[in-house]
Amino acid sequence: MEREVNSKPNRRTVLGATVGAALVGAVATAPAAAAAGAGAASRGVTIRAPRGPLRVTVHLVDGRLRYEVTRRGETLVASSGLGLDLAERPSLTEGLEIESVERATVDETWRPVWGPDATVRNHASECVVRTVQPATGTRLDVVFRVFEDGVGFRYRLPAQEGLDRYTVTAERTEFALPADATSWSLAAGTDWNADERHYRRAPLGEVATAQTPLTLATARGTHVVVHEAALVDYPSMTLAATGDDRPGALASELISLPDGNKAHLEGAFSTPWRTLTIGDRAGDLAESHLIENLNEPCALDDTSWITAGTYVGVWWELQRRDTTWTEGPRHGATTARVKEYIDLAREAGASHVLAEGWNTNAGGEWTGQDFLTPRDDFDLPEVLRYAEANGVRFVAHNETRGFVDYYEEHLDTIFGRYAELGIDAIKTGYATRFELGGVNRSHYDQEAVRHYQRVIDAAARHRIMINAHEAIKPTGLARTHPHMMTGEGVAGMEQHNYMGKDGNPPEQATILPFTRFMGGPADYTPGVLNVTWDPAGLGTRVQTTSAAQLALYTVFFSPLQMLADTPENYRAHPGFAYLTDMPASWDETRFLDCEIGDHTVAARRKGDLWYLGAITDEHDRTLRVPLRFLGRGRYAAEIYQDAAETTWRENPLPIDIRTETVRASTTLRLRLVAGGGTAIRFRPL
Ligand code: NOJ
Ligand code: CA
Repeated sequence: MEREVNSKPNRRTVLGATVGAALVGAVATAPAAAAAGAGAASRGVTIRAPRGPLRVTVHLVDGRLRYEVTRRGETLVASSGLGLDLAERPSLTEGLEIESVERATVDETWRPVWGPDATVRNHASECVVRTVQPATGTRLDVVFRVFEDGVGFRYRLPAQEGLDRYTVTAERTEFALPADATSWSLAAGTDWNADERHYRRAPLGEVATAQTPLTLATARGTHVVVHEAALVDYPSMTLAATGDDRPGALASELISLPDGNKAHLEGAFSTPWRTLTIGDRAGDLAESHLIENLNEPCALDDTSWITAGTYVGVWWELQRRDTTWTEGPRHGATTARVKEYIDLAREAGASHVLAEGWNTNAGGEWTGQDFLTPRDDFDLPEVLRYAEANGVRFVAHNETRGFVDYYEEHLDTIFGRYAELGIDAIKTGYATRFELGGVNRSHYDQEAVRHYQRVIDAAARHRIMINAHEAIKPTGLARTHPHMMTGEGVAGMEQHNYMGKDGNPPEQATILPFTRFMGGPADYTPGVLNVTWDPAGLGTRVQTTSAAQLALYTVFFSPLQMLADTPENYRAHPGFAYLTDMPASWDETRFLDCEIGDHTVAARRKGDLWYLGAITDEHDRTLRVPLRFLGRGRYAAEIYQDAAETTWRENPLPIDIRTETVRASTTLRLRLVAGGGTAIRFRPL
């Protein structure tokens, strides 16, 4: 049976969808095509990217929907099953028929409130494959979007009789990826720190489980990232080898609720998008906007209160155990000390100051906190007065320590008071446990995801920006909620203290732009220039040179980007000059010469200034960097690089600063020592 579903042109409009993230481009139009039933099932449905060689085909095989992804004759995803299991129905991997197919084109250009690029084009071929399970009448749609740089697809359960309330017991999405591809991933986990690990490199066929993003490079050199977009009201997705005779085949494994189910849903529902970001170069991955494009436009009417910037704070000195979160003779967040950081913020052009341990019962057991009562030696009104006088704003630390029920109940009280005080940013924390609904649960289950969303919604009501630690991997939600600035979910700077003598091995930073950062910004907290500072004799240190720390401001993106070192360490290091007025949002971003796990070179533009960061792993390297990205004319290149005598292990601090005149036709030769890096600021002459 072949049936025409819709012969009228299907005009999709995205105009009027946003104010804060203004649309600057065109609207999409496309005729809806139609194909259906047995015809479509046997022939398959082909969805081609609007530009480029990427193609997705969808087939019905023995009553199960399957898809394939190919590009220039290379199969990136071989025939892979789709479907969901609901408690109330037979598996939606069986007995399905294709009812209809509906096509459209999405094409819009939007302006993020902050981001790596000032404008973003969202251009995709959309195809909705509607299926029905005739035996039960259950309907399941799969919505595909195929872009030049990847694929997104999501399940949509239309409103239907008998499914007012229902339970997902499993999602059965497969990704039959090339087994011989090289992959970088973290093992799947349900613990609070599952994302704060080091990426493993392995042939994909040897990966048993993974968090997403999972990144791979095929034998032909194609780069692919598996992740998800728009994680709302649903558990986080991890991946597990299917364990059948298909090496390289992974299947979705959702994080369970305490009752063993995956999600309790009501009415019509769309799952998060399952995504494949695809490119020739590693750099294509890092430059992609696919994840944000699969999220809804900005939901806020007014975004004028959302500001990207750098921040300083009482933090690294706590991590290095020079001072304490708890009150006492070595308490860090005293009025006087925070004022010193405010002075530092003013000098550095940083917008915010953080003070961990400012509130009662921070530190120790972290219990009984109210996030409103300051310590006796921390005069909040005076700190806020001093901050304002210096053009700096305060970040209120909300370390829940996983006592989430209390936090949820008091969100509006806490944020309402912050708004009255002029506090416009919080850093949340969920270290160790996650007690919500009276139950200790995974940080990544459906209820946890709902909690993070309630924090986002409450913060929007009170105009507060969020930096979320121990929360959940980003999935592009910041497009919709741009005050959801940044978060952890990464083995960041602090792990140099907690991962033993090797800290974060230098190669990790060359992997992160193509893995963790694929979901969105990370609050890695770079910029520790005194990498060997060890006031408490911990016997650990930051495992890079000082110059490499400067390069991270271009390699890593965060719209709230920390300058993590102390005022004393910054004033003693000449590299601090590079961090002054460092942008935290950009007009343009390019990832240049990158080999995942070996070296990364990134360049970002803000106005007419360009910044470049180059880092290497545990090997010395010389990189040739053509400066083609520069505009016309001459530029002064202020180069901060490891000095001739600098070595990562024995002598990491010396830095050589010099200025050269360059132009777009110049090729720089950058000599990087193991664990080292080069940072450059280009000013037009
Ligand atoms: C872990 C966070 O990542 C870190 O930044 C914070 O200082 C501690 N928890 C205490 O809240
Ligand atoms: Ca390497």
